[in-house]
Amino acid sequence: MANVAVIGSQWGDEGKGKIVDWLSSRADVVVRFQGGHNAGHTLVIDGKVYKLSLLPSGIVRRSKLSLIGNGVVVDPWALFEEMERLRGQGVEITPEKLVISESATLILPIHQILDAAMETARGSDPIGTTKRGIGPAYEDKVARRGIRVCDLRDPDVLMEKLDNMMLHHNALLKGLGMEQVSAADMHGKLMEVAAEILSYTGVVWRVLDEARKAGKKILFEGAQGMMLDVDHGTYPFVTSSNMHAAHAATGSGMGPDAVGYILGITKAYTTRVGSGPFPSELDNEIGQFLGEKGHEFGTVTGRKRRCGWFDAALVRQTVTISGIHGIALTKIDVLDGLEEIKVCVGYELDGERIDYIPAGQGEQARLVPVYETMSGWPGTTYGARSWAELPAEAVKYVKRIEELIGAPVTLLSTSPERDDTILMHDPFVGK
Ligand code: GDP
Ligand code: IMO
Ligand code: MG
Repeated sequence: MANVAVIGSQWGDEGKGKIVDWLSSRADVVVRFQGGHNAGHTLVIDGKVYKLSLLPSGIVRRSKLSLIGNGVVVDPWALFEEMERLRGQGVEITPEKLVISESATLILPIHQILDAAMETARGSDPIGTTKRGIGPAYEDKVARRGIRVCDLRDPDVLMEKLDNMMLHHNALLKGLGMEQVSAADMHGKLMEVAAEILSYTGVVWRVLDEARKAGKKILFEGAQGMMLDVDHGTYPFVTSSNMHAAHAATGSGMGPDAVGYILGITKAYTTRVGSGPFPSELDNEIGQFLGEKGHEFGTVTGRKRRCGWFDAALVRQTVTISGIHGIALTKIDVLDGLEEIKVCVGYELDGERIDYIPAGQGEQARLVPVYETMSGWPGTTYGARSWAELPAEAVKYVKRIEELIGAPVTLLSTSPERDDTILMHDPFVGK
């Protein structure tokens, strides 16, 4: 049996939460390995809606172990709020069920101040971040001045590190004409939450090693999507982490061969929140139809998601770069009722035909989509639980996507509900 890594293949919000929740019935451990509470993962179980940002989507199942790996950035206050909200919905969260890596980096209130300040400083060309402090926290991590979960165990070391961190940030705040932030205040705030965070803290790489040796099945839960990857996405309109499947290993503390089957979660059309290029965007009534029918509003910020046709060239690229073995195709039901459906199969750039998204910011902005047109289908795919229930044209659409992206559809999702899912190939069996 293989472990499985779930990663988004577009710009996030592909339905990863639903698929991780569904797959977690077959797993023992679910581990988050990057991102933070910029993620918004929605699960619908028997009509009840659960919204998760930092907690792994396996948390709703009683017997599963949930891990937050070293690659995640953790805002303790946001985590407690989320835990309280979920407990209010009857989800049990205990240190036996949830372990946070001692080497995960913390998001502090200063990071949110900086995130907002930098967005303002970008003027008319912001990234459109979630303003959760994600970017500034990762910057501090890489600059070696970050505060990690383990630092909460040692108040003196913590104070030294905060002094060092604030020396840097206060110089920046001063330059921007903003109020200074006191390292001592930050220390006080952190000490208030230290005991509770530490009660969930553990050595995640060892927990994973023990799980692996005991033959347990591990599900790696990616946040965001490959086009938001800091190396492979539409830079600089990206987030500050890697969602590439290889990072499932580095962000949790396992060898690369532990990752196993790489499942790309892929929406049957395309959406994006925030700024940046989007070649197949539809700024018309069809885009509006997709947004309304697909309820395309951000889980985290409530912002309207931009919508467009399925971009097969984009997904082919992310399948190739991240080594996706198969995809879970979600939200096909949102296309029900359309007379014709277009699929982007490549681009024109300055009059030349190309079949991939080049790296340059200006080039990406100038891409003109090249479409193939397919017919829509009569009837509905909504809630279908077997291949046989799908209209013939919907099957044709799925088959064409497989051909264009060069990967098989392993799972098909036909509604937000957990069980409205069709399994073609069990990813835990491997390739
Ligand atoms: P994630 O960030 O990838 O976990 O995705 P989000 O939860 O942010 O957004 C996906 C949205 O689509 C959620 O509201 C899901 O409940 C919903 N959803 C997931 N799969 C399907 C599907 O197959 N059909 C429909 N109609 N909705 C779905
Ligand atoms: P899930 O896991 C969609 C986007 C933001 C912004 C950019 C940078 O739910 O798929 P950040 O706050 O991370 O610095 O913002 O990345 N973004 C997402 N878009 N889904 C997400 O997560 C996202 N997380 C970040 O909108 O454009
Ligand atoms: Mg989301």
